[in-house]
Amino acid sequence: MAQTSANKPSKHYIVLLNVHGLIRARDLELGSDADTGGQTKYVLELAEALAKNKNVARVDLLTRQVIDQNVSDDYALEREKVSAAAQIVRLPCGPKRYLRKESLWPYLDCFADNVLRYIRSHGLMPSVIHAHYADAGYVGCRVASLLDVPLVFTGHSLGREKQRLLLEKGQSAESIEEKYNISTRIEAEEETLSFASLVIASTSQEVDAQYARYDHYQPSRKKVIPPGTDISKFYPPNAHLSKLPIHTEVDKFLSDPKKPVILALARPDERKNLAGLLRAYGNSEKLQSLANLVIVAGNRDKIAELDRGARNVWRELIALIDEFDLYGKVAYPKKHKPEQVADIYRMAAHRKGVFVNSALTEPFGLTLIEAAATGLPVVATDDGGPQEIIRNCKHGVLVNALDDKDIVKGLLHILAKPKQWQQYSQQGRAGAQKYYTWEGHAQRYIDCVDSLLGSQIKSKNIQARRVKKISTDRILISDIDGTLIGDTKALQQLKELLTQHESYAGFGVATGRTIKMTLDVLNEWNMPIPDILITSVGTEIYYGPNIAYDMGWHQLIDHRWEPRRLREFMHDEKGVRLQEGYKQRTFKVSYDVDASFTGVKGLRTRLRKAGLHTNIVYSHGQYLDLLPLRASKGFAVRYFADKWGISLEKILVAGDSGNDLDMMVGRTMGVVVGNHEKELEKLRDLERVYFAQGDHANGILEAINYFDFYAPNPAH
Ligand code: GLC
Ligand code: MG
Repeated sequence: MAQTSANKPSKHYIVLLNVHGLIRARDLELGSDADTGGQTKYVLELAEALAKNKNVARVDLLTRQVIDQNVSDDYALEREKVSAAAQIVRLPCGPKRYLRKESLWPYLDCFADNVLRYIRSHGLMPSVIHAHYADAGYVGCRVASLLDVPLVFTGHSLGREKQRLLLEKGQSAESIEEKYNISTRIEAEEETLSFASLVIASTSQEVDAQYARYDHYQPSRKKVIPPGTDISKFYPPNAHLSKLPIHTEVDKFLSDPKKPVILALARPDERKNLAGLLRAYGNSEKLQSLANLVIVAGNRDKIAELDRGARNVWRELIALIDEFDLYGKVAYPKKHKPEQVADIYRMAAHRKGVFVNSALTEPFGLTLIEAAATGLPVVATDDGGPQEIIRNCKHGVLVNALDDKDIVKGLLHILAKPKQWQQYSQQGRAGAQKYYTWEGHAQRYIDCVDSLLGSQIKSKNIQARRVKKISTDRILISDIDGTLIGDTKALQQLKELLTQHESYAGFGVATGRTIKMTLDVLNEWNMPIPDILITSVGTEIYYGPNIAYDMGWHQLIDHRWEPRRLREFMHDEKGVRLQEGYKQRTFKVSYDVDASFTGVKGLRTRLRKAGLHTNIVYSHGQYLDLLPLRASKGFAVRYFADKWGISLEKILVAGDSGNDLDMMVGRTMGVVVGNHEKELEKLRDLERVYFAQGDHANGILEAINYFDFYAPNPAH
């Protein structure tokens, strides 16, 4: 990338994060499972389009590496070129095998560390990090905060909306929670929305009805930029459309293949409501006499071998076809190739058909734009993106997808009136050209990024920020109260080990105490001054032996922090009492709580609604620390690791209570000492966290053994 001169911004380097699903540069396996669909395609095309923009130098699409016999080897490749300036970079995230997105949550902290390491490895600073979906949002908050670059977020679909619709359909809250981990997802979305500098949505309906359900709804940071469609593939049929292979596949189901086609093209996912459509068709003789129904829903060999969701959908569809005796009227081809999708639309347009989207929720509705470009009128669910697409393209009508009769009415409105059909078809083609190309999207995107960054220089060299203490290649960072201190004999033993290995292994503390209280207690227990002191719950960093204050950290966390307003707000909270004055710090507002405290969850929601950006840390069931969003022991450890060039795998962190939690969850080695609080129990299943038998420093000694912390380094 070109060097930057002082006032002329260089070109952009953009990092896209897409954690789940199967993504590769060519032949996307759309519909192969519930996580490989519209979003995957969107992100890949966005990468390509951005890379073509004249103000962009490089685009990296970071995703999860999958090494699994059941999927193609392509997903194991570490690097894959997408175009001259864009590439896919695959990084480890938990187990190697393919996992559905609901199972990825425990591995995202490690993934975030891997992302950080990758970006540092080439030393180029991104202009923005753009996270796609809640899981990437979780990762993006962490990475963007540590790199101090703006985060852009696109939710793709949002948890609260999904929860609402599933509840409406009669599913129980518990089963939704169990199936989709919905509260973890919503929590990640809240965090991301509070952190992101820019949220890109595809439709304004999405902003009004979906993002607005969130505590951190900030309309000013939302921008609607519809996704582009590669319209070149979706051209209308010409008059002599010859018989394509897909025609054969479809026509073999039908007694009168010349009739117009009602086309549904969607993943076999219950939310797509294909059964609702089939029922509507089955109940309307008029519709059956006017048109055939064609359902293209992924590929299948044996229905019994599909994943559970798809299997249930197919079983229901086939049972309905039988129940309504729709033989000869409904086609549901077993297979189609991705490159045949445009032919499928063309076939439907050629037969003067209608495209129908009867999904329960449809935040995007890419298929509706593809239909428009092909000149195929649509009937679509009146719930999501379709509202805006139809407003722009004027190529059809909206219906209530939960109401059979309304679906039928919409279809008849178009199928029974050839003039109406013609008008919709023409308007759709014009609208798609005007509103939905990727080239236009990329330009509007870059304009947003430019105004976000202002005239600020776009590319910084990370290397320049590093201050390395060359000799230290690993470090123990321990909490003090309940962890380091408490057992004199064990602490003495630990002290000896620290001295013995001090030429290459560092020692640090991370504590809730103030710097003064920290130095007092270390002195009292006869400990040397640590190399690093992370104090006041991660809001302050000092370096020994001169107790030098890290001003860089101070500046980094001083972001949307309003302590005065926060304290005022807390006046009305039940069961909280401000701690002593000397415990209150610039970036730390601390309370003691009693039994009448209503809990962290409710407080978090209320703070968000009040627009107070706060990181809440709860320890020992009795202390409540309110910190800036970017501050915590975990963030401080990562900031320091970067600054000193120590890799996270070589950092052993030790703790006993809630305020230690977030420094344990990533790629560091972690030890939870025997005498820990129950707040840390949830770390039990993490691979890199060791639960010691011994209390206090005994636990740390055990972990030193367990991880072989002082193992000789081949480089020494
Ligand atoms: C220490 C601090 C206190 C904080 C607690 C939990 O006890 O003095 O202010 O609330 O740690 O982090
Ligand atoms: Mg402690």
